[in-house]
Amino acid sequence: MRILCISGPNLQLLGTREPSIYGTETLPQLHTRLKARGKELGAKVDARQTNHEGEICDWIGTSRGKYEGLLLNAAAYTHTSLAIFDALTAVGAMGVPCVEVHISNPEAREAYRRESRIAAACVAKVAGFGADSYLLALEGLVRWLGRSKS
Ligand code: DQA
Repeated sequence: MRILCISGPNLQLLGTREPSIYGTETLPQLHTRLKARGKELGAKVDARQTNHEGEICDWIGTSRGKYEGLLLNAAAYTHTSLAIFDALTAVGAMGVPCVEVHISNPEAREAYRRESRIAAACVAKVAGFGADSYLLALEGLVRWLGRSKS
């Protein structure tokens, strides 16, 4: 089982970005933990970060045939991007599910973070558990994929 984890804008700053909200773990450290957990669960996890909306669309759009599922923290694009919603809808219809991930709980924050433009194109969402949201989302996605096979 192959999983692609995509992190969006400003998440390369994890570790130093508003640690009271996003914690002190860096993105490379989080990726290491995610890959190790993936191994335990029988999944090969590739993990990437970009600040560019189009690149996120490219990675989603080329995921079919390479990955069974996606983890996506679209960061600020969560709240704005119809393009990412459309990309997720397209590959979702081709059988590549996505779990939306957030470190914080955006719905408990500023009003402009309460709406997710991408949620309706995802099979589930994990938010508010700090960086562990990624690991919990991975676990959920692996179970989801296991169920959909049987
Ligand atoms: C975030 C929440 C978003 O509202 C914000 O723009 C981010 C990070 C999170 O992981 O909590 O950049 O997606």
